Amino acid sequence: MAGWNQGAALPLVLMVLLVLLDLQRVAGRSPHEMQKNITLAVILPQNNTNYPWAWPRVGPALERAVRTVNADASLLPDHVLIYRFNSSEDKAGVCSESLAALMAVDLKLMYNPWAFIGPGCSYTSSPVGLFTTHWDIPMVTAGASAVAFDGGIYPSITNTGPTHKKLGKFALRICEHFGWREHVMLIFSDKKDDDRPCYFASEGLQSELESINITVEERVFEEHILPVNYSNIILSIQNGGRGESPSTQT
Ligand SMILES: *[C@@H]1O[C@H](CO)[C@@H](O)[C@H](O)[C@H]1NC(C)=O
Ligand SMILES: *[C@@H]1O[C@H](CO)[C@@H](O)[C@H](O)[C@H]1NC(C)=O
Ligand SMILES: *[C@@H]1O[C@H](CO)[C@@H](O)[C@H](O)[C@H]1NC(C)=O
Ligand SMILES: *[C@@H]1O[C@H](CO)[C@@H](O)[C@H](O)[C@H]1NC(C)=O
Ligand SMILES: *[C@@H]1O[C@H](CO)[C@@H](O)[C@H](O)[C@H]1NC(C)=O
Repeated sequence: MAGWNQGAALPLVLMVLLVLLDLQRVAGRSPHEMQKNITLAVILPQNNTNYPWAWPRVGPALERAVRTVNADASLLPDHVLIYRFNSSEDKAGVCSESLAALMAVDLKLMYNPWAFIGPGCSYTSSPVGLFTTHWDIPMVTAGASAVAFDGGIYPSITNTGPTHKKLGKFALRICEHFGWREHVMLIFSDKKDDDRPCYFASEGLQSELESINITVEERVFEEHILPVNYSNIILSIQNGGRGESPSTQT
């Protein structure tokens, strides 16, 4: 027994010494030598809070998340989480498809990020989503909610927010529940020079409803060309939306 104890003690002492030496070596190094950066590339509208995912709304949450992760050394041992931000907003404050694509390439070349946060707008997410797929890195966004991002050519995109496809499925369940088979969709506020949120939301509903043969008629009107005769629109919905469904022929 005594012999076993003595035999084990020496390697143990050596090991403790080695550990101490190693700690000293580590303490002598500068923080940047021992820690590797994990860089997130952030592309969001910098100032325009009309966008729900604009930097003033998302930024504080991201900063808090980065602080929280870095405060717990067991989460990413020997690594520091950092982020680099560039705006996707043009001079008019609007999400810019071309700017977002340039920012993505710049950020990739300069920092070789592990992941992208944003963009949020559908038109800016499209080119960046194609790049991140090509680079094989994740793109996490609370936006990019258009139907076109579902599967297909954008496998790198993860939506943390609601998507229009989900909205469509929700509407579909309501229609199935009540046995509604005909619908009218009023599309308004379709500014083609911006991100067309109403257009893309309607698309989510329309594509899901059509997938189970629910009749969908659409009527587009120009809200900005006045006067809009809303009575006329309602009348036309009333005339076109009732009494023609196959299910009501009995
Ligand atoms: C990590 O990022 C910091 C800035 O946040 C920079 O000063 C440092 O050089 C980077 N370290 C490495 C290893 O790239
Ligand atoms: C992106 O942001 C960095 C640092 O904030 C800045 O130096 C750089 O000019 C920006 N890129 C462009 C293309 O604006
Ligand atoms: C956002 O606002 C800041 C401060 O007012 C300004 O410096 C910056 O250029 C603005 N960004 C964009 C993209 O307009
Ligand atoms: C929708 O209609 C098409 C053509 O009539 C039919 O082939 C298809 O099975 C229908 N789909 C559903 C979900 O009812
Ligand atoms: C608006 O449409 C209604 C229904 O078609 C019509 O009776 C009415 O005269 C129209 N009003 C105007 C101002 O054109």
